[in-house]
Amino acid sequence: MDLSIVVNGMTFPNPFLLGSGPPGTNARVIAKSFEAGWGGAVAKTISLESAKVVNVVPRYGKLRSKISGEVIGFENIELISDRPIDVWLDEFRQVKKEYPKHILIASIMEEYEKSRWQELTRMVQDTGVDAFELNFSCPHGMTERRMGSEMGEHPDLCEEVTSWVTEVSNIPVWAKMTPNITNIKEPSLAAVRGGAVGISAINTILSVIGVDLDTLRPMPTVEGHTVPGGYSSQAVRPIALRMVSQLALGLPQDVSISGIGGIENSHDALEFMLLGSSTVQLCTGVMLHGVKMIDELNEGLEKFMVDKGFNSVQEFVGKSLGYFSTHMDLVQKMKAAKRAKAGEASRDNEWGQKDITEKTAELTSN
Ligand SMILES: Cc1cc2nc3c(=O)[nH]c(=O)nc-3n(C[C@H](O)[C@H](O)[C@H](O)COP(=O)(O)O)c2cc1C
Repeated sequence: MDLSIVVNGMTFPNPFLLGSGPPGTNARVIAKSFEAGWGGAVAKTISLESAKVVNVVPRYGKLRSKISGEVIGFENIELISDRPIDVWLDEFRQVKKEYPKHILIASIMEEYEKSRWQELTRMVQDTGVDAFELNFSCPHGMTERRMGSEMGEHPDLCEEVTSWVTEVSNIPVWAKMTPNITNIKEPSLAAVRGGAVGISAINTILSVIGVDLDTLRPMPTVEGHTVPGGYSSQAVRPIALRMVSQLALGLPQDVSISGIGGIENSHDALEFMLLGSSTVQLCTGVMLHGVKMIDELNEGLEKFMVDKGFNSVQEFVGKSLGYFSTHMDLVQKMKAAKRAKAGEASRDNEWGQKDITEKTAELTSN
């Protein structure tokens, strides 16, 4: 069955992408995922000066189910890529040469300076990548340099920075948004005004994974101290689904959505697609379960399409959005349904199903 989908002019062999992070941290792991069958990858976020990026160890923390021990939440205080831009440029070229049919998206981030963003855009674009994803959403570390979610929290900056990129790029530009904001539509619409043709959502939710009751130290603990980090994995999925549905209902129709957050199998992915995502991205799930997850994702998608009679992926993107309403409308619908039911119950066929005295009482008002 054909699982491909065309998004912003790009043909994805299937809608499943590695999300920016460890699963796309160098050419070797990206190639491995393409071999395994992923439709595309968003590489780990890069900037002009990797020397400014210094990671700490440990930088991850897990939240486990108290019953099964399964990981349901995951915090990271990882920064963007610490690998030099020249190495990345070579690797983008190499991956595109070896896998021309897979979609390779470069995630970029820079300080608030037009020349820096435009220099990075030009350099990366020359390698032949298929699209850009602008990281307006990393919630920790980079924010101290006024990058990442420091931009994504301010619609005016999203619009301005996106317009710097679209001024010099000739490939599709997606903006990746932070959930650490009251209304995700506002900065997303601003990015669209700046020329973005797609929105990726969500990045991680600002969090503290826990406190060690022996040492009294919040985690993950680095030399006795910590900083709040980004929360991902299964626990964030309902929040991501809500935000994706808000975007799908609030953005212009031609803006694509790449849904992200807690996806671990085809069921999760289909939920995002039914709420308007034409592609989905997986990060923590791949870190925990490996690139082979793509087999179940493809099989589950295919089975769903056969069972429901859909001939293309595009056909069901956003199919569940029509079922959102207002609370007032739900109340009215409920009252109408009750009235209809009461009407049915008053039909003569109903007599005999209950004791005749009970039925008489049911139809009597006093
Ligand atoms: C360890 C780690 C590193 C990440 N690094 C990046 C990054 O460099 N750029 C980016 O845009 N998002 C990054 N993310 C965020 C993910 O791409 C994704 O938006 C988020 O984790 C939610 O999806 P998930 O539950 O599938 O992981 C990172 C996430 C994790 C867990």
